[in-house]
Amino acid sequence: MTLERAIAEFDRALRAVAGVHRTGRPSPAGDLPEAQLEDARRAEAAALMRVNHVGEVCAQALYQGQALTARDPGTRRSLEGAAREEEDHLAWSAERIRELGGRPSLLNPLWYAGSLAIGVAAGVLGDRWNLAFLAETERQVEEHLSGHLERLDAADRRTRAVVEAMRADEARHRDSAIALGAAELPQPAKAAMRALAKVMTTLAYRV
Ligand SMILES: [Fe+2]
Ligand SMILES: [Fe+2]
Repeated sequence: MTLERAIAEFDRALRAVAGVHRTGRPSPAGDLPEAQLEDARRAEAAALMRVNHVGEVCAQALYQGQALTARDPGTRRSLEGAAREEEDHLAWSAERIRELGGRPSLLNPLWYAGSLAIGVAAGVLGDRWNLAFLAETERQVEEHLSGHLERLDAADRRTRAVVEAMRADEARHRDSAIALGAAELPQPAKAAMRALAKVMTTLAYRV
């Protein structure tokens, strides 16, 4: 790895953890009106967005782990596009947490470090497994976001717009990982990822 790339990756890690974001695309919440929500509903939306934001911090780390280990330059380039969209998600969800009066997870540095380690470990197994892991992650995130859309208030159009746009992107990310030649993860690996995600989302909902 060149020094220039090492610095770029380090910069990305710092931005993800510190909550400083560059956005490519404006937030899908746009100028949709802010809903009048009961306090409890608003707090729940903020907590759900905190969970999503943690997911996006992890996505940064996973894609970074992928970038550090991907062998095929074509694969790496294709995944850079998805990684940029993940940066948008990070910024959109952070902004929405603030609008809802919440705060990001205090454990973000921990989530980041853990995901980076997992991403690098998956990458070491080779591109096919690396992509398999990414595809499964995107699939599980998509499921989570669908669950959140069921829980969010129908009137909360700003939050819903962000979640819906993220879900559409994740579906495309998964398809592109599969198109790039992702293997199919064995069932126990998928179950382990699900269990880990459960711990993460339960904690992030609160802390
Ligand atoms: Fe994302
Ligand atoms: Fe994604």
